[in-house]
Amino acid sequence: MCGIVGYVGSNSSLDVLIGGLRRLEYRGYDSAGVAIITDDGDLVTRKRAGKLVKLTSDLEHTPLADGKTGIGHTRWATHGGPTDGNAHPHLSADGRLALIHNGIIENFASLRDELLAEGFTFSSETDSEVAAKLLGREYLAGGGLAAALGRVVVRLEGAFTLLALHQDEPGVVVGARRNSPLVIGLGDGENFLGSDVAAFIEHTSRAMAIGQDQIVTITPTSVRITDFAGLDVDAEEYEVLWDASASDKGGWSSFMAKEISEQPDAVANTMLGRVHDGQVVLSELAELEDLLVGIDRIIVLGCGTASYSGMLGKYAIEKWAKVPVDIELSHEFRYRDPFLTPNTLVISISQSGETMDTLVAVQEAKAKGARTLSICNTQGATIARESDAVIYTHAGPEVAVASTKAFIAQITALYLFGLHLARVRQTLPASEIAAALVELSAIPGKIATVLKSKPEITELAGWMSDSRAILFLGRHVGYPVALEGALKLKELAYIHAEGFAAGELKHGPIALIEPGQPVFVIVPSPRHPNSLHAKVVSNIQEIKARGARVLVIAEEGDAAVLPYASEVLRIPLAGPLFEPLLTVIPLQIFAMELATAKGLDVDQPRNLAKSVTVE
Ligand code: F6R
Repeated sequence: MCGIVGYVGSNSSLDVLIGGLRRLEYRGYDSAGVAIITDDGDLVTRKRAGKLVKLTSDLEHTPLADGKTGIGHTRWATHGGPTDGNAHPHLSADGRLALIHNGIIENFASLRDELLAEGFTFSSETDSEVAAKLLGREYLAGGGLAAALGRVVVRLEGAFTLLALHQDEPGVVVGARRNSPLVIGLGDGENFLGSDVAAFIEHTSRAMAIGQDQIVTITPTSVRITDFAGLDVDAEEYEVLWDASASDKGGWSSFMAKEISEQPDAVANTMLGRVHDGQVVLSELAELEDLLVGIDRIIVLGCGTASYSGMLGKYAIEKWAKVPVDIELSHEFRYRDPFLTPNTLVISISQSGETMDTLVAVQEAKAKGARTLSICNTQGATIARESDAVIYTHAGPEVAVASTKAFIAQITALYLFGLHLARVRQTLPASEIAAALVELSAIPGKIATVLKSKPEITELAGWMSDSRAILFLGRHVGYPVALEGALKLKELAYIHAEGFAAGELKHGPIALIEPGQPVFVIVPSPRHPNSLHAKVVSNIQEIKARGARVLVIAEEGDAAVLPYASEVLRIPLAGPLFEPLLTVIPLQIFAMELATAKGLDVDQPRNLAKSVTVE
């Protein structure tokens, strides 16, 4: 969603802001703008609806005076459509202060009425302009920008990150946050603020997190953090491990293509340093070690793709660690008054670590006395910091809006957690844990094998680019894969797609089958003990008999599917719980290639944002 950059230093702020906004493009947005205090001491702004290129070409045609203090924003519309007027920055009534905002100010209507009654006028339909006008009014009351911001934020309800600058305070940018992301980048004679570290990673890898309900003031040589009441708070500096080039396309046609190809590394890097002598050792769980032995229940929370990795975690954790696991969508959990005990562990899964629905669900779990663990891909993210412990996935920066390598890394982290828990609770013999780890270690090589089928999948996607609806079926761990395959297709190719548990077919969905209806079926290996292979093949026969066009993902050498399948995509043999790490890959590639065949932007699908920072 909205991307935010702030800069103070000795370089061109326009260059830093545009560079930062470019790196934040992946968050998804529909307009962009900057505000700068020029070297002559003026406050200038420029903003345009549309992609960043609209703003940059406008700046090329009509250059903006540059300066060394600035803020930049990409907006994902909530209140008011994506127009030039609604784009940020917004100005105070006297035009001397500029403000950008991410989040939703829930009480904006009453604040706006208050300001209208005082004679203020508004030039946009946004909730954000209300904050700009309020801050301008408070600034005139004295005490400086940070103090004025402190008086404004306590009046706001909802979630927000705000950044502001004032013409009378060149060399100063202030920021505040509540339930919305903001990170500090520490430079040499310059400092940065960003929605995430991508905003400044090309300038510095030294970062500092800002806690909830805190205000930050940056100058070229200082960083001050206070609470909303103005009392100083300490913050720890950390080193960002991502390398700036990792968030470049690196010669690939899209970030998504690059990220799909990086999946062997996502598994290997997430395992790195966590496996010793055939056992998993997650030292990051030290805070929770007392709970793990006597744990009575696990609730896994996430949204979208993250929730599907959670479903897979349930299968593995229950089997290995013998603890009941429920998986729930964060936004459903948050509002149903869940019953939790002090022995409940709530695991949240989030690539960005900033998804608002998941963040507030974690806060709800903590308020109800549960202990919390997060699985996050982004270092220092809010959800990670608000949880009692965090297992970081090491997938590297995921830029394409549709999640691929983060999903694979989340499954890996959940499986490592399941095996760690099984050791602590002594529910699985050491030899079985070691065997599972051997399986997991072999997955990167097997994913690399599946990736070689890309040309075949591209051809299939090309033939199917005019499909109106595609269905996906799977049983057991194939079911979350079916859901994920359908989600990828919906979000990238805008084709109606549904995933079903194959056992559910005769309870309704089979009515959808008509001659020619394409159906992907995820088939488990026939070689596993108690395999569901025969059951799935019988589902295939049922849909084939009704004219479905059956597209099968099956193990190398599985001949039983051949009589019914129009197309078979092969995966190497893997243990039953490990198959999803392979079967999902052809579905990711299929969705990407079908979207490409339709001429769509696979990295930034319409209406979507990478990081959903509003409820
Ligand atoms: C789908 C996708 C989304 C995210 C979901 C959660 O491809 O990317 O469904 O998985 O918005 O995001 P995170 O993991 O950042 O909490």
